Amino acid sequence: MFYQFPEDFYWGGASSALQTEGSDSSRGKTIFDVFYNLAPNRFFDGVGPNKLADFYHRYKEDISLYKAVGHNSHRTSISWARLIPDGDGDVDQEAVVYYHEVIDEFKRQGVTLIMNLMHFDMPAALQAKGGFENREVVDAYVRYAKICFELFGDKVKLWATFNEPIVTPEGGYLYDFHYPNVVDFKRAVQVSYNMIIAHAAAVKVFHQVVDGGEICTILNITPIYPRSDNPKDVAAARIADLIFVRSFLDPVLLGQWNAELVEFLGEHDLLPVGLPEDKQLIAANRVDFIGLNYYQPRRVKAKEHVPHPESVLLPESFFDYYEMQGRRMNTSRGWEIYPKAIYDMLMTIKNEYGNVKCYIAENGMGIQQEDQFRGADGVIDDTYRIAFYKEHLRYVHQAISEGVNCFGYHIWTPIDNWSMINAYKNRYGVIEFNPQTGERKLKRSGSWFKELVDANGFDD
Ligand code: BG6
Repeated sequence: MFYQFPEDFYWGGASSALQTEGSDSSRGKTIFDVFYNLAPNRFFDGVGPNKLADFYHRYKEDISLYKAVGHNSHRTSISWARLIPDGDGDVDQEAVVYYHEVIDEFKRQGVTLIMNLMHFDMPAALQAKGGFENREVVDAYVRYAKICFELFGDKVKLWATFNEPIVTPEGGYLYDFHYPNVVDFKRAVQVSYNMIIAHAAAVKVFHQVVDGGEICTILNITPIYPRSDNPKDVAAARIADLIFVRSFLDPVLLGQWNAELVEFLGEHDLLPVGLPEDKQLIAANRVDFIGLNYYQPRRVKAKEHVPHPESVLLPESFFDYYEMQGRRMNTSRGWEIYPKAIYDMLMTIKNEYGNVKCYIAENGMGIQQEDQFRGADGVIDDTYRIAFYKEHLRYVHQAISEGVNCFGYHIWTPIDNWSMINAYKNRYGVIEFNPQTGERKLKRSGSWFKELVDANGFDD
């Protein structure tokens, strides 16, 4: 069967400033520079945010590579700490020139840009003032957003306020995987609340400043399933769904807090502090579209890791799955691969959130020690990644055929990149990046992706 996608479908990939540009001297410090200085051993192989692919100098070449793998669109971010080194003061003019040049280059090469404002990379100077726990930092974010819209809004028409905003409270205030490494549920709730306010205020300013533009936020609303029919698992899954999915989804799409979540937080003395006008701000500033990142489902909650019977593969069965395809693979990101969840996620948007326009903003497969799959011709033979994309795209196709208003699919990520704490451990690219030499080289999936886009679909 041929899986045909709609005309003008957005095929592309996502990246972020912090993970690609490089920390040349003019960029202000972010929380990841601070974290790395304090605890370099928390980063895989001790590699910090100073060893990057140097998109800052090589952006022309990299955009050409996005084109070479067929991309007609791309999402990246502006580095808040590059544009405004202390987060709330002077605008760095070199950064203004740089971002204009990058935006122009995307346009020149015919790649439509979706520009994101923040991808976890809070300026260090603002984190020192309390980060998003502090309402003044919300104002600084809105000022930053306004500056970006005024500077670049005539050239870029599609914007995002945040990538995966839940990761800031989750990583920084709940689970200790990002700076400031606080573990405090109440503070995490306050950070989430203030980020929603920041988002809504930025959406408001956007519509005042940018003519004919559209703005979204990008959420990892990972579908959540109970691990069994046991009522305790079902109840736990519902709570996880409220905290990790509905917390952002409801205010940005419905313009209101989720009532069940508010009740839950109230019962546990976790309600955040806000201002009387916040409700109105949220209600009046809903997004124009939504970006959806999907990697793996959350299965709640068993003490031991019990494989779900419908799962295509789990870390334990990863080996067997690819053995079927004549390959042996025992290294993976360790994330469950469950393609149907991408369909469930899209159907949630259609059935519960008014079928707002959406796109898959990230989907990808992280592989460790990928070098072992290099073929005799020197090319990484990542047929497993092609299989992964096809499995997910079949479900995206099904959702579209059932009426979901999905206009694009972006992979994470075109070129292997550094990631916050995992550094170069998990390789996601369809283009290989060698951190030692700086060399970029298409993987087999890169050539396949180009064929996919050229045909606007795939045969299977
Ligand atoms: C996504 C993030 O959720 O996961 C990216 O938006 C990140 O920034 C990606 O790089 C992969 O993460 P990791 O830790 O496997 O490299």
